[in-house]
Order: sequence, then structure tokens, then C-alpha cells
Amino acid sequence: MKETLLLTKHMRENPEDSHLIDSYEKNGGYETARKTLINGSPENVLEEIKVSNIRGRGGAGFPTGVKWGFLAENEDRYLVINADESEPGTFKDRILLERDPHQLIEGIIITCFAANIENAFIYIRGEYAKPARRVQDAVDQAYQKGYLGKNIFNSEMNLDLVVHLGAGAYICGEETALLNSLEGRRGEPRLKPPYFPAVKGLYMKPTLVNNVETISSVPWIMENTGKEYNKLGVEGSTGTRIFSLSGHVNNPGNYEIEMGSSFGEFVESLGNGIRNNKKVKAYIPGGASAPWFRGDQLDIKMTIDDVANNNSMLGSGAVVMMDEDTNLVNAAKSIVSFFAHESCGQCTPCREGTTWLEMILDRVASGRGRASDIDLLLDVCDNISPGLSWPPKMTTICPLGPSAVSPITSLMNDFREEVESLIPTKVLL
Ligand SMILES: Cc1cc2nc3c(=O)[nH]c(=O)nc-3n(C[C@H](O)[C@H](O)[C@H](O)COP(=O)(O)O)c2cc1C
Ligand code: SF4
Repeated sequence: MKETLLLTKHMRENPEDSHLIDSYEKNGGYETARKTLINGSPENVLEEIKVSNIRGRGGAGFPTGVKWGFLAENEDRYLVINADESEPGTFKDRILLERDPHQLIEGIIITCFAANIENAFIYIRGEYAKPARRVQDAVDQAYQKGYLGKNIFNSEMNLDLVVHLGAGAYICGEETALLNSLEGRRGEPRLKPPYFPAVKGLYMKPTLVNNVETISSVPWIMENTGKEYNKLGVEGSTGTRIFSLSGHVNNPGNYEIEMGSSFGEFVESLGNGIRNNKKVKAYIPGGASAPWFRGDQLDIKMTIDDVANNNSMLGSGAVVMMDEDTNLVNAAKSIVSFFAHESCGQCTPCREGTTWLEMILDRVASGRGRASDIDLLLDVCDNISPGLSWPPKMTTICPLGPSAVSPITSLMNDFREEVESLIPTKVLL
């Protein structure tokens, strides 16, 4: 199995200076945007994106062309790039921001041309200091060259691009919380409907919110056509995707591959297998919010639909391997603690429930569990996500609450004995 480099080609071939505009232009950078603005039409760009069948890389996998098509007519429309990347295990947007920021800016220019947008924002997570510096420098360079600002590439198009650093909250990755934060409000998800960003987004105006990787793919699609992009990967999961591989593997890292091979193949060939030749006990296929798979499910294909058909999600593309020696209750506890810490607190089931789950798991993991704890865990989960089904039902405004339920249902469905074995049979009160 080999990588297919579309988005990471330039940075791999020019590791020293791929973030600089000279290096980017030497390798053909900004030519696609220039050609598109001078000779192309917005309709043609939208058509190419639709033909490519690219689906959003932020987590939900929504078809990008369809989303762009929803954008309501209005004088003021915005594009917001979601660079909040905070899902545990996910570190793929980081390299795109840090090592190829001009590719993203070129994607933004083409997207704004297609959607008739004159104001765009890149919202970067607060902890990404170096990527943010690199992106800001790249934006400054692009302004100096006349690729941003008024009459870019001497066309009639104007575009201003603002880089905004968040304060370091995972919830601001949820698109409506991100928009609130960008407006200077508390980063709390909005009630939906009616506030779908494409209809009512930033300042209640039509807004496209797209992930860094999604928009970084636009220059390649426009240069090579949507049809060529559509030939990569498999039906429903076209193109390449950057997977962040971590956990007990020999070679963790970011790998850009066509979707469609199995997780086992991926881990064996690109991850060089599991450390110390251990077996996989469980793995997370798509970030901390995703339900886990067992070690005997490594033949599942890495596509959005295959993973969904097996009751989980490819999500943000973060694959985390846990070997046979992993204490899964501790692993679940650390994920649940993350969500408890990051809950914005608006919804009682999430605010209270995630903290309860954390406390109960802590009790069980440290050998102080009670016989009633398993039922209690499931009951609290059911209050957040009724029925414990997948995709999750929610009693909450956003999916963060149900995300904390995923590791627990994974434990209970497939590793219940391990949980039970930690609970003393005779508990002293
Ligand atoms: C709790 C939560 C956190 C999220 N975090 C991110 C994130 O860090 N980056 C991201 O692109 N999308 C994130 N999303 C998904 C966004 O809401 C949105 O769907 C995405 O930015 C749309 O871009 P796309 O269509 O290009 O994938 C998150 C969603 C939820 C519910
Ligand atoms: S589910 Fe949690 S994070 Fe989402 S809005 Fe409710 S309290 Fe906030």
C-alpha cells in the first residue's frame, strides 16, 4: 500500500520552505486560481466540485458541492475555514496550515470566487501558535503580491482574508459555536434550526463553513478536474484523505491515502505494525467521538460508508490503535474526561452527565467501583443519548454530549468483562 500525494506533495518535496510563497509559486502555486478567476466562471467551479464528489473532511462528511449549493443569496456572504482541529488524535490540519498555507489560501480564493464572497476568515485553535504564525505570514505575502485585497490577479474580484485565533476550546470546532466565538460571543453552539450557517451564519448572514483539508483540496480539483478526483478512492469516498495515525503503532504520523483499503492494511504497511509485535485489542477509527472497533475488525474498509455501516464514523480521520495490554477503562476515562472538560455547559445532560461519567469511570478504574456502577453508567449515557444507538439520538444541543457516550457503549458492547473484572465483588461501604 502506498500513499497518494495530492495535498501533501508540495510539503514532502520541499520540506524546508514549502510554507513560503516563492516555493509555492515555483511549483505552480496560484496559477490555478489565476486561470479560474480570469477564464472560469463560478458555475463551472461549483460543477467541478460537485463532479469530484468530495465530502467534507471536518467530521460529518457532508458533500461539499451540495453545501455550496445551499448558500442563500445575499449581498453579504462569508466563508469561514474551520481550523479549530481539537479532536483528540487528529493532527492533519496542522500540517496543512503549518507547511502549505498557500495551498489553503488558493483554495479560499477559488471557493470565494465560486460563491461570490468578498470576506473570508480562518479560525485557528488557540494552541496552534506556530501554524497561526505561518498562516498569517502567508496571508501577508499573498496581500503583497496582489492575490488578496482589491482586484486580485487584476480581475474584478475583491477578497479580504482575516486570520483569527481562538482561545483554545474544543467546542469552537462545532461550526455554530465557532461563529459565535468569531463574533466575540461565548463559544456555545447555537440552537438549530433555523441557524444553519449556509442560511444564517456569521452575523446572521449566509456563511460557508468548511474544514481546512476540504478547502485545501480545491486547487487540485480545479487544476485536474472533478472527474479525475472522482476516480481516486471509491464511490462515496472519493479522493485522498490525510489520516492521523497514533497509539501503539511503530510509525505514527499523517498519511495521505486514497480511501478504500482496510484499517489492517493501513496499520501494517504505513504504520509498520503494532509496537513489540503485540495484537490490537481495540481501535478508534475516526477520532475520540467515534465508537471503537475490536481488534478482530481490522478488515473494515477506510471509507465513510463502510465505517458508518459498522456503527461508527470515519469522522476527523484520526486512527488510534490500542494494543492487547491497554487498560480500556482507563482509555475510556481519559476520553470522557476530555469531553467533561470541554463541555460548554449549556445542556444539563452534557454538563452534568459527562462529569458523572468521568467520576464513575475513575472509581471503577481505580478499583473502587460498585456493583451498581455499570447500570449507572448506562443510565447516565441514556440520559444524554436515548437508546444508545448509532448514529446517536441526542437530548443536547450539539453532538459533544453523545461523543462522551461512544467510548462507554464501546466498552459495554465489546469489553464488558474487562469492566466487570475491575469491580470488587465485595465492596466495603
Ligand atoms: C463538537 C464538535 C467539534 C467539531 N470540531 C471540528 C473541528 O475541529 N474542525 C472541523 O473542521 N470541523 C469540526 N466539527 C464539524 C463542524 O461543525 C463542521 O461540520 C465542519 O467544519 C464543516 O466542514 P466540512 O464540511 O468541510 O467538513 C466539529 C463538530 C462538533 C459537533
Ligand atoms: S452538548 Fe455539551 S457542548 Fe454541546 S451545547 Fe450542550 S452542553 Fe454545550
